[in-house]
Parts: sequence; C-alpha cells; structure tokens
Amino acid sequence: MRFRSSSAEGTEQIGQRIGRCLNPGDIVCLYGDLGTGKTTLVRGIASTFGIPGRDITSASFTVIAEYPVDPFFYHIDLYRIRNRDDLDSTGIWDLIGGASVSVIEWAENLGELSGQRQGIISIWLSDCGEGVREITMEGIHADTWNNL
Ligand SMILES: Nc1ncnc2c1ncn2[C@@H]1O[C@H](COP(=O)(O)OP(=O)(O)OP(=O)(O)O)[C@@H](O)[C@H]1O
Ligand SMILES: [Mg+2]
Repeated sequence: MRFRSSSAEGTEQIGQRIGRCLNPGDIVCLYGDLGTGKTTLVRGIASTFGIPGRDITSASFTVIAEYPVDPFFYHIDLYRIRNRDDLDSTGIWDLIGGASVSVIEWAENLGELSGQRQGIISIWLSDCGEGVREITMEGIHADTWNNL
C-alpha cells in the first residue's frame, strides 16, 4: 500500500491508522532518510496505545524508549547503531516480539530478523518535496486496513 501525506498531521493520522492494525508481538520497521517523518509517524502509532504525542521524542542518546502500556510499547531508534555488537548490547532481542509492540527507526541497522516473517510490518518514507511524504507499507493486509 502506498500513500501520500502533505503535512506532519497527515503523517500522524496515517500512523494512528497503522496503530489500529497492530497486534501484540508486531515489529514495525521504519526506513527513510533524515527528516522524512519517521518519528512523526511513530507519534501517531503510539497515540493509539494511549501514549501522548509529546512523550515520543527523538533524543539522540536514547536508543530504546519503553512505555509500560498494555501491550508494552517500544520506540527504538537505531540511527547510531553501527554494528552487531552495538545492537546486541542494547538488549533489543529481549524486548521486541513476544507480547510487546515495537516500532524501529533506521531498521536497516537491525540486520536480518532471523527467519521471522510473521508480525513484521515494513514502512518506507521518502520526501517528495514541498512537505509531501510518500509512505509505502508492507505487512498490513488491505482488508485489515480498509475495515478499520
Ligand atoms: N508530510 C510530512 N510528514 C511528516 N513530517 C513532515 C511532513 N512535512 C513536513 N514535515 C516535517 O518534517 C520533519 C520530520 O521530522 P521527524 O523527526 O518525524 O523525521 P525522522 O524521519 O524521524 O528524522 P530522523 O531521521 O532525524 O529521526 C518534522 O519537522 C515535520 O514537521
Ligand atoms: Mg526520528
């Protein structure tokens, strides 16, 4: 599925709709250059789990932000993760999947999600100029999306 959003608010709204499609255990992988709207999208997703938008930030020193809502929600930013050792030392493998919902910025730094296929939602964001972002998603069924 592919959408265009012409404002940060529009991107948050798409995020809310994504949030309503998620189930415990889901891992949302976000891909896109600096400033394409990943954190903005996370804000929308998080709001469907009762997390206020202002709580979702992109503090450069925070790799994993944990929100003890039900299900547990993790906002993960792998921008500064350079290799497998860095990644492993974050403790990420004990948190994602299971019963929690995770949303991961710079998911390219995750490497392979060993054999996992189910519960992975991949989202690509790109800047089309003039405040327009293109958002492409895989892993959400059109039926689920349309029946919200
Ligand atoms: N259509 C749009 N969707 C999302 N953000 C937009 C849009 N148009 C303009 N913006 C602006 O672009 C910026 C996106 O910032 P955001 O932090 O969400 O990006 P990011 O991809 O998380 O960046 P980073 O790679 O630094 O983590 C915000 O300042 C937002 O207001
Ligand atoms: Mg960000």
